[in-house]
Amino acid sequence: MSKIAPSVLAADFARLEEEIKDADRLGVDMFHLDIMDGHFVPNISYGPGIVRTINRITDTFLDAHLMLSEPEKYFEAFVKSGADLITFHLEVHPDPEPYAAALRDLGVQAGISINPDMPVENVLPFLRHFDLLLLMSVFPGFGGQKFIEDVIPKIEAARHHIDTNGLSTVIQVDGGVDGSNAARCVEAGADILVMGTAFFRSPDRKALTESVHAL
Ligand code: DX5
Ligand code: ZN
Repeated sequence: MSKIAPSVLAADFARLEEEIKDADRLGVDMFHLDIMDGHFVPNISYGPGIVRTINRITDTFLDAHLMLSEPEKYFEAFVKSGADLITFHLEVHPDPEPYAAALRDLGVQAGISINPDMPVENVLPFLRHFDLLLLMSVFPGFGGQKFIEDVIPKIEAARHHIDTNGLSTVIQVDGGVDGSNAARCVEAGADILVMGTAFFRSPDRKALTESVHAL
């Protein structure tokens, strides 16, 4: 069974509570929270205050994707706001292990992410320190972009590394994931599919959620 992580960025913020509760009723596995600083990525989204609000609405696992130039400055704030897992980018911390340890010390899981132009080989040696690998299938900054196919062999390489080394790191794919490419991501070895536009703009969220769970 594959997992679905709706990206709240694509929700209708005027109806945030309803949007979250509707996703919960359908049995989504976690919420993916895209945090952007206008520096690491060319867009600004929301911060710990909104994460705290979301945490008041739901008991579901909160996965915070920090697209920040100095993510460690905000680890504690996001933990206090209710994040259960925090992902940061290898692009900003090429030696990421101490930051994984800092997250564990704060009592949350640790994730590491790479952009589409970073070879997957760069991140493989660090996977044993992380609970989650987030492979970007778009250049981060905006929802609603087109899925970049080059992520498929990266998923396969990460799956191979994780399995041959007996690691428990899970693989998440993020960016342009929808019904047309979800099965290929899972066949390549992905465990969790982030879906922003595909989930929140779907005419049938229930069928979409069930179809991901059936993969
Ligand atoms: C991109 C974000 C993604 C994005 C996904 O910067 O990291 O999580 O919101 O949205 P869709 O599924 O619309 O590409
Ligand atoms: Zn994301």
